[in-house]
Formats: sequence, structure tokens, C-alpha cells
Amino acid sequence: MPQWLIAPGPASRDLGVEVARRLGLEVLDIELTVFPDGESKIKIGREVKKASVVVIQSTYPPVDRNLMQLLFTAHKLSEMGAEVYAFAPYLAYARQDKEFLKGEVVSIAVVARLMRAAGIKRLDTVDIHSVNALAYFAFPAHTISAIPLLAEYLKSNYSLKDPIVVSPDLGGAVRAEGFASVMKAECLVLKKVRDKVTGEVSVEDVKVNLEGRDAVLVDDIISTGGSVEKAATLLYKKGVKKVYAACTHPILLGDALERLVRAGVEVIGTNTVPSAVSKVDIAPICATHLSTICT
Ligand code: R5P
Repeated sequence: MPQWLIAPGPASRDLGVEVARRLGLEVLDIELTVFPDGESKIKIGREVKKASVVVIQSTYPPVDRNLMQLLFTAHKLSEMGAEVYAFAPYLAYARQDKEFLKGEVVSIAVVARLMRAAGIKRLDTVDIHSVNALAYFAFPAHTISAIPLLAEYLKSNYSLKDPIVVSPDLGGAVRAEGFASVMKAECLVLKKVRDKVTGEVSVEDVKVNLEGRDAVLVDDIISTGGSVEKAATLLYKKGVKKVYAACTHPILLGDALERLVRAGVEVIGTNTVPSAVSKVDIAPICATHLSTICT
């Protein structure tokens, strides 16, 4: 039987320690130095030969730094004789899963090759943007969902008035329907159009009357907040009383949260990305999932 260790990466220290505690596994400390020019150096302070190590490192911004730290850690552990598994609660580059415009790189395919080269034998993540991205990995790659946890959180902590669950786009319909089924609420799917060159989003009008109801927008990622802001504006025009936005990955770049608050949106996220709105802890589902692997 291999010895299982949890190595919380620098971007997911608290989450990793909590997952290890829940699994009753030892924590393997990763020593990190960041040089003045931004380069990261990783050091593993103990023997790991023949151990199986799960590195938990989310790749939220700074995306490339956190991704490189994951790759460096995995590479070193693997070189030292460990079997390495990666758990990336937020997997960056999953939105770049095809050549949308001719000449564009399929970035997630490159990430998959880098992980393989670093010795990673399996990848797990949470609410990957598109499951198509998993096909680029030449080793087992899986996604679990925090959507039921988010829905339970809203159900238990808010008294929502005749709630309607809303997906800001067609791609998020399955997520929103799952959320709605936990909340036992109706679901509405909006049609978002994103300009492939400028990234500018617009949301098509819908013929519905939502007078006096609460709405919960459900998305995997809130990054600039543009998609949720546009959808919320439309929902308020339709008579919604209050808009909530539940997301797995609250990246919330720059002043995104302030803009959403000004637009009347209350944001609730998970701790795949630590933030002021990371109210839902994913440690329980990570631990349950990893308990099926760490045996
Ligand atoms: C895209 O389809 C995703 O599901 C999110 O809706 C999107 O990434 C959110 O980005 P932003 O907050 O920048 O609009």
C-alpha cells in the first residue's frame, strides 16, 4: 500500500490542509520562494520515494505563476520517486478548448501536455468550464461539481421570494438546471453573445414577466463580471426584485465585485478561488472525491 500525502500548493494552502485533515492524511509542505523578478522556486523538504502525493493547487490569477508552481512541484515530486496526482480546484485555460478563430492556439491542450511532461498521472478539478477540455489529457482527468453545494447554501441561508434560477448563456444551461433542481425552482436560460475578437458580451432580450421575484444567476466563472452584469440588467428590466449570482470560481478581476454590487447583484462563490465572497467551502466534496482515489 503506498503512503498517501496531500501537498497543499501555495495558492490553495488552507483548502489543502483542510482536505488532508478530513482525509486523515499527512500534509507535505511545499517550500516556495518568489524572486524579485516574479520567478517561483519550489523545494520539497523530505523524502517522498514511493509515496503517492496529491498536489492541491488552484490556477486562478496570477494564472501562469500558479500553474508553473503546480508544474514545478509535480516535476520535483515525480523526480524524487513519488506518484503525482494533481487537484486544480480552478483549472485555468479550460475556456480555450478549441480554435475559435483560425490561427488561435488550443491552450488547454498545451497545458495538458505540460502536466504530462511534469509527471502528473491524474488530474481532478471542480466545475471545469467545458468537459470537452478533459479530452486533451493523455491520463485520467475528471471534474466534480460544487453546484449542489452552492444551491444548498442559498436554500439554507436566504429566504428567496419565488426564485427563478437563470443561466446567463446556453453553455451554462445544465449547471443552472442542476442548481434549480436542488432549489426546486424554475430555470431560465438566457442567450449571451460574445464577440470573438473584442470579447464584448451582449444578452438577448426574453419575453418573460419576473415582477417581484428573486433571481439567482448561476455561472462557473465570474471573471470581469461583464456577463453577470449584462444578465442582471436584463433581469431587473423584467421586474426582478433582487439578483443573486452564484458561481464556483469567483475570480472577480479588478473592480468587478464593486461594479456588481453597484448593479444590485449579491455574489456568492466557493473557495476554489479565495475571495471576499468565497462563502462555500469545497473541502467536503474534495475530500469525499479524493477518498475514492487515495486508497
Ligand atoms: C463563459 O462562458 C463562462 O461561463 C463565464 O460566463 C465567463 O467566463 C464569465 O466571464 P466574465 O465575468 O468576464 O463575463
